[in-house]
Amino acid sequence: MLTEKDIDNIRNSWAIVVDDEMDNMLKFYNRLFKIAPQVRPYFPDDMGRLAEKLGFTLNLLVTNLGDFEKLRPTLEELGKYHGDLGVLNSHYKYVIQALLFTVKNAMDVFYTDEVGQSWKRALIAVSGVMIEGSRKKQKSKGLLAKLFGGRKKSYKKYMR
Ligand code: HEM
Repeated sequence: MLTEKDIDNIRNSWAIVVDDEMDNMLKFYNRLFKIAPQVRPYFPDDMGRLAEKLGFTLNLLVTNLGDFEKLRPTLEELGKYHGDLGVLNSHYKYVIQALLFTVKNAMDVFYTDEVGQSWKRALIAVSGVMIEGSRKKQKSKGLLAKLFGGRKKSYKKYMR
């Protein structure tokens, strides 16, 4: 659960990160690929478009952190999308590490451990809901497979 102080810490530090948003998002991916080279093949060669999307999404998250429940459906959808891409639950820790590094690097002398802890709590919460979202989908897939033997034809028969 995020405190008011966490939300304040995140908003104030994000203001510094967005000051050079594109550059910081690209630095984030560089860091991610350095600490977890095994995820590089999941991504396109040109990271510009994705860096822009990530900046936009983080902005949305930071703006709405005070009402986390409002974010849940979007995060679950985003999690499902990642699950379909083949992203593993075990990959999330690298994204968290790389984002923490990016915030620290952007804040430079203004960085404090308290700010880092606030980001860590928020990113763990966000990743948790995304992973839940991808699990939900897997579960329903499993259920359909059990009920209808996983064959589209027999499944359709029941849907008529
Ligand atoms: C805090 C967790 C994460 C957030 C907020 C996040 C956010 C996003 C966003 C906003 C997009 C763009 C979606 C779109 O095109 O509409 C995206 C795409 C993607 N993400 Fe994540 N992501 C997270 C974790 C991860 C993890 C753990 C991986 C694993 C390596 C990953 C790999 C990817 C890939 C491969 C794409 C698609 C690249 C493409 O368009 O070709 N993400 N992510």
